[in-house]
Amino acid sequence: MLEFALAPGKGYISIVAWPSRPWAAKHDRNEERRMISKKIVDRINLQINREMYSAYLYMAMSAKLGDDGYKGIATWMMTQYHEEMFHAMKFFAYLQSQGAMPKIDKIDAPTVKAKTVKEIFEATLEHEKYVTASIRELLELALAEKDYATENLVRWYVNEQVEEEQNAVDIIQKIDLIGENKQGLFMLNAELAARTPTIPLDYTAPFPAV
Ligand SMILES: [Fe+2]
Ligand SMILES: [Fe+2]
Repeated sequence: MLEFALAPGKGYISIVAWPSRPWAAKHDRNEERRMISKKIVDRINLQINREMYSAYLYMAMSAKLGDDGYKGIATWMMTQYHEEMFHAMKFFAYLQSQGAMPKIDKIDAPTVKAKTVKEIFEATLEHEKYVTASIRELLELALAEKDYATENLVRWYVNEQVEEEQNAVDIIQKIDLIGENKQGLFMLNAELAARTPTIPLDYTAPFPAV
């Protein structure tokens, strides 16, 4: 809106463009093309951050295990890092497919307090339980909003979490069987070295349609 106004005491007429485009502040460029609610987008972005943190945590655990000489278990943990990155990228691609923009936020530095191999897997299980609760929260939000596309996607993560927790439980049970036996840990190290990622590791084409 253009407004003509006299500038008092200055002897000239100024043209004041105010308020300029009052509707602009409210306009969200993405709103027209977005197929899911802003609340869901924000919650998925939070989940992306949590998946990235999980990746970061397992990378830190891998560093610790490698430093302690458990190179095979470190490989297993680095595979876990890739799995978590895939979880983040799957949400990333979903947001884009729904006309929403992923938000790349700060990732907290992980702290690995666990000292033994068993403690590392106990911490892994504890962290996975936290992620399961977070995924459930996201599913409940999708259900409350009757957002069935998001619900479909999140159910994939629900199944994935069952597997993630089971993996940690299985390894803890094996360590319990081994006890203090160093030879047993040596065997476990060799066994876990064989793990390879089952998910795609190429993120160069994040748009699902491309
Ligand atoms: Fe994950
Ligand atoms: Fe996980």
